[in-house]
Amino acid sequence: MRNELNLPGSAHPDIPEYISSRESKYLKIIQYQEEKHRSLTEIGVKLNKYINNNIIKYSAILIKGLKIKTVDELAELSRDFDFEGMTYNSGSGFRDQLSGSVYSASEEPHDFTIELHNEMSYITTSPSKILFCCISEGTKGGESPICFNRDIARYLNKDIAEKIIKRKIRYIRNIQDEKNTKYITWQKTFETKCKKKAEETMKRQGIKWEWKQNDDLSMYNIVDATRQHPVTKESVWFNQVTANHSTYYQAHPAYQNQHNLQANQYPFHCCYGDGEEFEDETVSHIRAAHWNNAIALKLEQGDVIFMDNYLCNHSRMAFEGSRRVLVQMYR
Ligand SMILES: [Fe+2]
Repeated sequence: MRNELNLPGSAHPDIPEYISSRESKYLKIIQYQEEKHRSLTEIGVKLNKYINNNIIKYSAILIKGLKIKTVDELAELSRDFDFEGMTYNSGSGFRDQLSGSVYSASEEPHDFTIELHNEMSYITTSPSKILFCCISEGTKGGESPICFNRDIARYLNKDIAEKIIKRKIRYIRNIQDEKNTKYITWQKTFETKCKKKAEETMKRQGIKWEWKQNDDLSMYNIVDATRQHPVTKESVWFNQVTANHSTYYQAHPAYQNQHNLQANQYPFHCCYGDGEEFEDETVSHIRAAHWNNAIALKLEQGDVIFMDNYLCNHSRMAFEGSRRVLVQMYR
């Protein structure tokens, strides 16, 4: 990992050279044994029951051998899940809606490594569970490292963590109008072309906003660094201090020549709730907490992984070839 190209903060000495492939009590791997008489939807119902009974005991459950190859097959598998599906409305990532609640996991450039993060932890309506399904592996790289929030909390320096918890996190976003970019747009973010509807969503999310003259949008919201787990009721470290920090974009291939941008001019940035920047060492320390606790996972075609989003972080290594991973989120 250390000095990995296009990995934010990878030059820091606390970043490990390699990710461990150790086992974790928080990750369960099961092998699905093919049952020819069952439809994908019936298999999904069986899987749904297993996830309901076990996701809290573990935090992530990887199911191998399902052989899902298309968006339609994933939609069929999840058709009768009793989890409440949700859209990516208000999400800050670059992804495409493919069918109903099935999205591409990321449309970010293949040579960029997406840092470990809990999905949508920068807003208050985060998913409680998230599913990833690999339909194509690519030819090189593209691992999907994960790490667990309880391990991160144990690793973090108490003073650093408490300072962030006390002062909360200000998430800043600058998203463009669809006529100005092919990257993240406010229309896609809020799933509407109507400014009023986008404003209603921002109001509901406690987001403050400002429209720019060219219809681009700047906004910010202040969110706690921890969240109460909806089932276990424990307070969990749950935020995107690193993956939503401007240094993420400084390592992004599309932004490497934009040295004139201020930190708060990138598509997203974050700082303490009162507007003061995080110290460099604070951001580096949290990155080190992630990567030193990460587990390397290489998803194979057809693999499905469920994560408790409050307890498990996910990421994606840079890759070559036609790697394709789908995502579904649940309230
Ligand atoms: Fe994500």
